[in-house]
Amino acid sequence: MNRYRALVDQGLKELDWSTAQPAGLYAPMDYFMGLGGKRLRPALCLMACEMAGGEAESALPQALALEVFHNFTLLHDDVMDESPLRRGQPTVHLRYGLNAAILSGDALLIEAYRLMVQAKPELMPDLVKEFNRVALQVCQGQQMDMDFQNREEVSLSEYREMIGLKTAVLLGSSLKIGAMMGGASATDAQAMFRVGYLTGLAFQVQDDWLDVYGDPKRFGKQIAGDIKACKHNFLRVTAMQEATHEQMKHLISTFARLRTYLDQEKDEGDVQALEAQRQEWVDDTTGCYNEIGLKQKVQQYKAGLIQDARYALSRTGLNDAPLASDLMDYAEYLANRLE
Ligand code: IPE
Ligand code: IPE
Ligand code: MG
Ligand code: MG
Ligand code: MG
Repeated sequence: MNRYRALVDQGLKELDWSTAQPAGLYAPMDYFMGLGGKRLRPALCLMACEMAGGEAESALPQALALEVFHNFTLLHDDVMDESPLRRGQPTVHLRYGLNAAILSGDALLIEAYRLMVQAKPELMPDLVKEFNRVALQVCQGQQMDMDFQNREEVSLSEYREMIGLKTAVLLGSSLKIGAMMGGASATDAQAMFRVGYLTGLAFQVQDDWLDVYGDPKRFGKQIAGDIKACKHNFLRVTAMQEATHEQMKHLISTFARLRTYLDQEKDEGDVQALEAQRQEWVDDTTGCYNEIGLKQKVQQYKAGLIQDARYALSRTGLNDAPLASDLMDYAEYLANRLE
């Protein structure tokens, strides 16, 4: 993994937006990409390329495209989720303003396409087709995530469809595009998509767990941000399933209050009092999750997904590559990450 990381870091350094003009456009891009992150999507892409028999370097533009695309989604996601912190630092809309988050985000998306198409002409149509599909699916997932904020309850299957779109398809595509660049057959490339997709679901479930139970220093994001934003994440969906009648009533009424807060016009004068009130509702919800006890459910669900991913990998022609076990180790790490 370190080898891939070094390649990716070098490639990103060469993009260098630090002095590009106008600075109002490029400085936020440079700031945000410079904050780091796990760089897992490009790592998956390079690894899959090698598994398929290619040189990792040959998939570097596509790996970088996937990382730049991911960063574009984060700029806009932080606006939509009203998130103050990312990678331990202020989000772009707080540091540079809303317009910067919109426009620098757009520029990252365009950069991602510029990088993605740096491939042999015969591969280009398939790459573009794959990337278009995934990019649109991420938007679909993000819209579902937003729509769910206004719902009282969301089923586990609806939740799973939503995270499949907003998060898992990009991990799936990272492996698929890497495999395509490495010369894999269409069948193997599609099977690799499934490996990444299932891993991506587990990855998002862990993200939802860390929202409440993460160490803020390692996680780098605001704790309980999903509760504040009335997200139906894995904790909430499972808590609603496991709750007693009393607990469920309580979860629903607290959520309704939090939603009213979100929609409310906030007057400068009463912001502090409102914030304190909001924190009480958040603590209340967290207390309810603690009481119900969700850890085992989270662990079980993720373990099932990783097992399915392992099975999907065993069905591909790429399973014998020595890297196959490294890939599954990495999938396990992603499902249990703390950062
Ligand atoms: C965050 O992705 C968004 C989700 C899909 C949960 P990462 O956890 O990969 O973010 P960075 O790039 O490492 O910061
Ligand atoms: C991430 O979902 C999905 C995308 C960015 C497309 P989240 O909203 O849970 O991600 P974080 O927690 O802000 O990283
Ligand atoms: Mg978010
Ligand atoms: Mg979000
Ligand atoms: Mg999250």
